[in-house]
Amino acid sequence: MKHFLTLDDLPNFHQAVAEARALKIQPFAEEHLGRHKTLGMLFFNPSLRTRLSTQKAAQHLGIQTMVMNFSNEGWALEFEKGTKMDGLRSEHIKEAAAVVSQYCDMVAIRAFASLSDKENDEAEQVLTQFAEYASIPVINMESATAHPLQAFADAITIQEHSTKKRPKIVLTWAPHPKALPHAVANSFTRMVKNIEADFVIAQPKGYELNPDITGNTPLVFNQEEALEGADFVYAKNWCSYSDYGKIVRTDDEWMLTTEKMKLTDQAKFMHCLPIRRNIVVADGVLDHPNSLVIEQANNRTFSAQWVLKKLLQNG
Ligand code: CP
Repeated sequence: MKHFLTLDDLPNFHQAVAEARALKIQPFAEEHLGRHKTLGMLFFNPSLRTRLSTQKAAQHLGIQTMVMNFSNEGWALEFEKGTKMDGLRSEHIKEAAAVVSQYCDMVAIRAFASLSDKENDEAEQVLTQFAEYASIPVINMESATAHPLQAFADAITIQEHSTKKRPKIVLTWAPHPKALPHAVANSFTRMVKNIEADFVIAQPKGYELNPDITGNTPLVFNQEEALEGADFVYAKNWCSYSDYGKIVRTDDEWMLTTEKMKLTDQAKFMHCLPIRRNIVVADGVLDHPNSLVIEQANNRTFSAQWVLKKLLQNG
């Protein structure tokens, strides 16, 4: 594993989940592995869980961290090759990535989708150009189209709480006042393809995800029908993919409620957080003992720790 940009970079998904669960039992077992190593963490967008869990994971391995909020502390970056830099952008990604590589042994990057330029977002401009110009491993802390550390943590959480050989997992769109990216839904969908499950995506018409990612996953346009017999319900908002970046309609009735959860087989509730109460989900669902959201956040430490450990071991 040279970089960790998507779930496809995991050499063996099931082994990775098992090893991450072992790290959770003995987080400090290799506390000297990262001695004298530095992880750079560059944030182009806000974070609570990703920032703290990745730092915590680094601490478990004895890695030092340097954190920079690039969006308001760094020079505005230019990504075009061969361009005349006479605008507002002061530093080219080519130098920035090479310079970060002088101070750090690995670099983790958060750079969300613009939701205004589908082509650039799908090209993963920030992440891929860092990977091109840095001489150190690059870790995706949520990019335009993917959030693999979250999906990896979600896989740990599902495995920990699954009581059936083949659970029914529902990813349901939920309302939100802002247009949100597809990254979490994309990576969750990709992740579930690795596990034995009956998986359906529930969403209002117009919110179909990238068909290259959903493939032959059943899409259900009636939320209550989708929830019937579910063992895990993952709620998430995302904006339109076909009418890129837009909120095509507001379906408040898609909020997940305790009444709707009664249709499930006492399903566990999942969400990556942050979450808007009584917009995405009713208090009663979020505060119910079947809610796994805090455990999902806890498991972020161990998905990150597994990735850092592997990259260290790969030298
Ligand atoms: N789930 C998640 O990535 O949380 P943050 O945006 O707070 O890092």
